[in-house]
Amino acid sequence: MSIHLQTMGQQSGRRSWAEPWKIKMVEPLRMIDRTAREQALAEAGYNTFLLRSDDVYIDLLTDSGTSAMSDRQWAGMMTGDEAYAGSRNYYNLEAAIRRHYGYRHVVPTHQGRGAEHLISQVAIRRGQFVPGNMYFTTTRLHQELAGGIFVDVICDEAHDPQSTAPFKGNVDLAKLEALIDREGAENIAYVSLAGTVNMAGGQPVSMANVRALRELTARHGIRLYLDATRMVENAFFIQQNEDGWGDKPIAAILREFCEHTDGAWMSAKKDSLVNIGGWLAINDRDLFEELRNLVVVYEGLHTYGGLAGRDMEAMAIGIAESVADEHVRSRVEQVRYLGELLSEWEIPIVRPIGGHAIFLDARRFYPHLSQDEFPAQTLAAELYLDSGIRSMERGIVSAGRDPATGEHNRPRLELTRLTIPRRVYTQAHMDVVAESVLAAWGSRASTRGLKLLYEPKYLRFFQARFERL
Ligand SMILES: Cc1ncc(COP(=O)(O)O)c(C=O)c1O
Repeated sequence: MSIHLQTMGQQSGRRSWAEPWKIKMVEPLRMIDRTAREQALAEAGYNTFLLRSDDVYIDLLTDSGTSAMSDRQWAGMMTGDEAYAGSRNYYNLEAAIRRHYGYRHVVPTHQGRGAEHLISQVAIRRGQFVPGNMYFTTTRLHQELAGGIFVDVICDEAHDPQSTAPFKGNVDLAKLEALIDREGAENIAYVSLAGTVNMAGGQPVSMANVRALRELTARHGIRLYLDATRMVENAFFIQQNEDGWGDKPIAAILREFCEHTDGAWMSAKKDSLVNIGGWLAINDRDLFEELRNLVVVYEGLHTYGGLAGRDMEAMAIGIAESVADEHVRSRVEQVRYLGELLSEWEIPIVRPIGGHAIFLDARRFYPHLSQDEFPAQTLAAELYLDSGIRSMERGIVSAGRDPATGEHNRPRLELTRLTIPRRVYTQAHMDVVAESVLAAWGSRASTRGLKLLYEPKYLRFFQARFERL
């Protein structure tokens, strides 16, 4: 019998790549048995956010704050200057942001939503519209709490999990222009643009789109702010898939993209390879003064923003590591490896494969379940029961309720997200994950949905509880 074994590179007709690091320290994993998993999940109200991480085998809940830091970052933590004011690590962070993102003024925050809160409070007047390329949960909530009205202006392809358009994160300029014509430029707070749109499946924005957006917003005197959380991964997709960028380093693409925007907020817990941290950076001096004043109220003094000096040092070093081409390539290609396996087995996932996660299309997994039976939440529960793998819902539960009507928002995308932390798991872990998804796919016809038992007022997906129908 001839066996046809192939390396990962051979499977896709090219030379293999490998991670640009080796492992120096390990953290043992634990796997509890099926009966214990059933009990743990029932106690967690079928919500993977409510599981104890000790009961999880491979944790793909999120890529947020779950990355492995390098030896250099750990060494940097030992140089933390824990002064209340003027810590040297703040100035190192400021220099790293100026160098790699290009903005002039920097306000540190404890994480991304701290920055979202500040920018929303300062830049939105009650009743103003905030157009964005799809929503992100915490971003939209802070915009709404500041009195803003979120409007989705992403291209239509983003809502179609089967569309293979390469830049499904792009803003539809016609939709934005229609909003400006209808409401007037003075009633638009700013355009909220996210790199690799999380809720659309990690889909990137092209350089051509941000340039055109810049031109349109400048013509109307509207500010353009960037959610730079996964902008490094966005730069990788531009390098790979947009004409004219193939020979440019990711660091240069990132700088150029940011130059088309007026400022950015960041959850450094993703791209920047740290367990905690965020920032807000802006070019406008007056706005910066306001933000620098407000951060003192909610986060801490403007040279630490809720962080320890050591956290800022780890972030400064992480920013520099995060833009290295070989790092980004191995990170995104690992995600792609898992996605290609699942696609090969004809398991429905969002295409093209995004930068940080594989999104399983729960509507096509469970066509017998209505959206009110929470197909994506159900699939996350099934994966945990099968193998102890933790994923999360990105569908009707995450979308929350319409603040005006109180009805469920009903997104077209009903997805279960397998999010890959950076520099944490190996290819063998990806194989185990793929086989578990295959097992859930095999038993899909007999899978029953869930009933909502309890939902909190804000960001309900974190704490809602369910029971089996
Ligand atoms: C696109 C995006 N923006 C903002 C945030 C909020 O950041 P944080 O979790 O650090 O508060 C997240 C976190 O998941 C995100 O994915």
